[in-house]
Amino acid sequence: MPGQTVKPQVAIVGGGMITAIQLLPTIYYLQRMGLVGPISVAALNAAAIRKLMDDPTLKAGFPSQSFNAYPKPDGPSQDMSELYREMIADLPPRQIVVAAVPDHLHYQVIRSALEHDQHVLSVKPLVLKYAQALEIEQEAFRRGLMVGAEYHKRFDYRSLMARREYRAGRFGQFRAGQAHLVECWYYRHSNFQNWCTVENSDMFTYIGCHYVDLVAFITGLLPVSVSLYGVVEDYPNGRKGYLWTDGRVKWNNGAFLSVLTGLGYPDAAPGGNTQGLTMHCEGDKDGCLIRHSDQFRGVEHSYRAAGGEPGDTVYAQPNPDYFRMLDMGEGCLTPVGYGHRSVEYIINAARRIESQAGGDLAARQRMLREMDQAGIMATPANSSYNELVIEAGRLSIANNGREAVIEYGQKPSVHLA
Ligand SMILES: NC(=O)c1ccc[n+]([C@@H]2O[C@H](COP(=O)([O-])OP(=O)(O)OC[C@H]3O[C@@H](n4cnc5c(N)ncnc54)[C@H](O)[C@@H]3O)[C@@H](O)[C@H]2O)c1
Repeated sequence: MPGQTVKPQVAIVGGGMITAIQLLPTIYYLQRMGLVGPISVAALNAAAIRKLMDDPTLKAGFPSQSFNAYPKPDGPSQDMSELYREMIADLPPRQIVVAAVPDHLHYQVIRSALEHDQHVLSVKPLVLKYAQALEIEQEAFRRGLMVGAEYHKRFDYRSLMARREYRAGRFGQFRAGQAHLVECWYYRHSNFQNWCTVENSDMFTYIGCHYVDLVAFITGLLPVSVSLYGVVEDYPNGRKGYLWTDGRVKWNNGAFLSVLTGLGYPDAAPGGNTQGLTMHCEGDKDGCLIRHSDQFRGVEHSYRAAGGEPGDTVYAQPNPDYFRMLDMGEGCLTPVGYGHRSVEYIINAARRIESQAGGDLAARQRMLREMDQAGIMATPANSSYNELVIEAGRLSIANNGREAVIEYGQKPSVHLA
């Protein structure tokens, strides 16, 4: 068999929220299924490692599993921001590195992974600059390595249904859309206030990118300009963030999508956020429509008392579709949902390359091109319009919402209109 391994080691950089609630549960599950080997996690400090190791849901879900920690849980208390490099250097070639650090740090983690010949799964957005996405694409291809950006809304069945039917012509042409995604107020008190600040990011870059990517994923259209207005407010620690944004994205068929994002959905309200997408389209004789409520998914619970986590409410509208850990009678918990499917798909894509092409570089490169072409997994080659949108959005927001235009062609770039 050509494969070097079909049971890759997985090394996760970042031990925050997304690692705890989505990445690690799925990767533990894949390990339980015998599909991945040992798991390592590098966090900024020992306290973050201890928090992850003591997470009650992870303990209940995966009672006999654990990970190699960088630093050790009883290690020194100071931040060790370069330790992840040691974890990556400790891997044999062509395992999988997961980048789960704040948005502006993805680039350095991905670079380090590629330099050590590792496949990469990165949480979205892949990087914040088009030039970085291009560099990553070229370096990964040269080495025959996969880089998958984890845009999990793509794996929501409603998105895959819309994509298939849009591409079969059933909705005609997209013309005008609205999307919104407002996360809970309590996020302001979390680690967000340390990094999602005006210099690094904004709400459009952080979460608006999901819906821009989704419209491209469904329609195959390309975004051509962004006007982004943002409201700057103080976080509880006094740092400043663009906590509300309104973006208008124009597309290469003349359509527009308006995207409202924010950090202020009431903690007292049911559901973990408010979000949804409406796309008005035109057929020959009538309007066509795609509309998703991505928050209220038809489930209502009212408990004896609210849970203990921020944002927990007595009356709740839990989302059964994103990520749930279910008791399937096995003495442990089983992850389900589009967040799970998305991580599983990307890990399995890397496993497939290793099992089918192994050390044959040309064969690995052929498979990479096929994956780019298939377009289900976001790769630097098939979705770097996302980086151009982010660059245009950052340029526009810094200029009070002036339109920033994306030029495609030989050397894609953005500039103010
Ligand atoms: N809907 C989504 O797709 C979604 C949701 C949440 C987060 N994310 C993405 O995940 C990433 C992380 O977000 P989060 O919510 O987990 O944030 P977080 O602030 O909870 O966690 C980030 C973690 O990275 C760690 N970190 C920072 N520098 C590090 C370093 N040098 N070495 C090791 N660890 C380091 C921090 O200590 C922190 O624990 C962001 O890029 C975010 O956009 C995506």
